[in-house]
Amino acid sequence: MTTVLTAVSHHHETAVVAAVGDAPGLTLVRRCADVAELLSAGAAGLARVAVVSADLRGLDRDALRHLAGHGVRVAGFVDPDDEEGERRLRQLGVATILHPGDAPAAVGPALAGLADATTSHPVPDVAPPDRVEPEPVDAPTPVTVVWGPTGAPGRSTVAVTLAACLAGAGVRTLLVDLDTWGASVAQLLGMVDETPGVAAAARASEQGALDVPGLARLAPEALPGLRVLTGLPRSDRWPELRAAAVEDLLRLARSVAEHVVVDVGFALEDDEELSYDTAAPRRNAATLTALEVADRVVAVGAADPVSLQRLVRGVQDVAVLPSPRPLVVVNKVRAPAAGPRPERAIRDVLGRFAGLEEVRMLPWAPDDCDAALLAGRALTEVRPRSPLVGAVAGLAVEIDPRCAEALGSTRHGRRRRRRVGV
Ligand SMILES: Nc1ncnc2c1ncn2[C@@H]1O[C@H](COP(=O)(O)OP(=O)(O)OP(=O)(O)O)[C@@H](O)[C@H]1O
Ligand SMILES: [Mg+2]
Repeated sequence: MTTVLTAVSHHHETAVVAAVGDAPGLTLVRRCADVAELLSAGAAGLARVAVVSADLRGLDRDALRHLAGHGVRVAGFVDPDDEEGERRLRQLGVATILHPGDAPAAVGPALAGLADATTSHPVPDVAPPDRVEPEPVDAPTPVTVVWGPTGAPGRSTVAVTLAACLAGAGVRTLLVDLDTWGASVAQLLGMVDETPGVAAAARASEQGALDVPGLARLAPEALPGLRVLTGLPRSDRWPELRAAAVEDLLRLARSVAEHVVVDVGFALEDDEELSYDTAAPRRNAATLTALEVADRVVAVGAADPVSLQRLVRGVQDVAVLPSPRPLVVVNKVRAPAAGPRPERAIRDVLGRFAGLEEVRMLPWAPDDCDAALLAGRALTEVRPRSPLVGAVAGLAVEIDPRCAEALGSTRHGRRRRRRVGV
């Protein structure tokens, strides 16, 4: 017997109860009055399948993700002429759709088959055919997440400069600011008043209304070849960036550009471990989700002793997450903070005490950074010859070999950089 929950708006109630109640092989275990009751019944393990109507208040991507997390598969229930409702359910990832009047002999196997399906993921892998993709992308688009511990080691500077280098080298890039503690990409690129950014994208995703053209519209070009999805305008709006929406927007982001660079917050704690309310928003959900879907993680630390210790701990914390092994980058490398021959000293410390053998270094360039900050423009534009730009260009070649020709082929960017800063 396949156990079933229902949560539908009242005008569907009778039809759904009839369809499920009379179907062979199904047991209707609870008729939930609203999404909250549905989520708690799902979390309690009462059923394997939930039937929801498209017009159920509060039904969003996060609710579906929550159900999927408890092994509950979801089917939709819509009137046959409610095309909008059916489209919305499909965009939310609901693939099985029932209509009033469907024969019980068909409903039974459909829901039983859903319960038996192996994958429990609510998000479809392919876009529905009616979505128009503005700029087709040939190769699979990598997602690079730039993370780093607390203390402003330069995550945003590295993320913005890296994205600008990629774009300058002809790789169409989307930069996404998912820092829920202090977004800054908009300000760094002088875009403050311009775009609704991630908040609007997340809202559309929650409602099942985000698609590739919509995401592209929310991410204007800040530089040729560089689209930017700006961050939260105030960090107290962090509950708006929920895991399911972030996952969805990063999935769609891969169709908007050829490389996606993500700036995230420093904190890695998962509030879910502290709370019994597993449906509650989590402050670091955006960071943790981005690290999970990333193809490449760049871990940025600063070069002074306090920052290096945080970097070592941070890399250990990232190692227990389901994310790729980070590429360790030490920024702001300078003798006064790290001792004479700072690069050697840092390699020595990180190698001996943390087993980090492969470390990239970015030089201290306060004047260049300040000039870019003051201008509200990328370092590649304001100080294209900065040694910091050269070193980040080297990083760009390493994470995306398509840049090699334009940026020079050395790993650390010491050679020519033809197209950066143009
Ligand atoms: N290589 C560098 N040399 C000198 N200054 C730098 C360098 N990289 C970054 N900075 C400066 O350090 C400060 C912090 O940089 P940034 O905002 O990129 O850090 P962050 O890690 O994103 O911080 P936050 O925690 O605020 O998000 C800025 O003033 C920036 O200009
Ligand atoms: Mg930052």
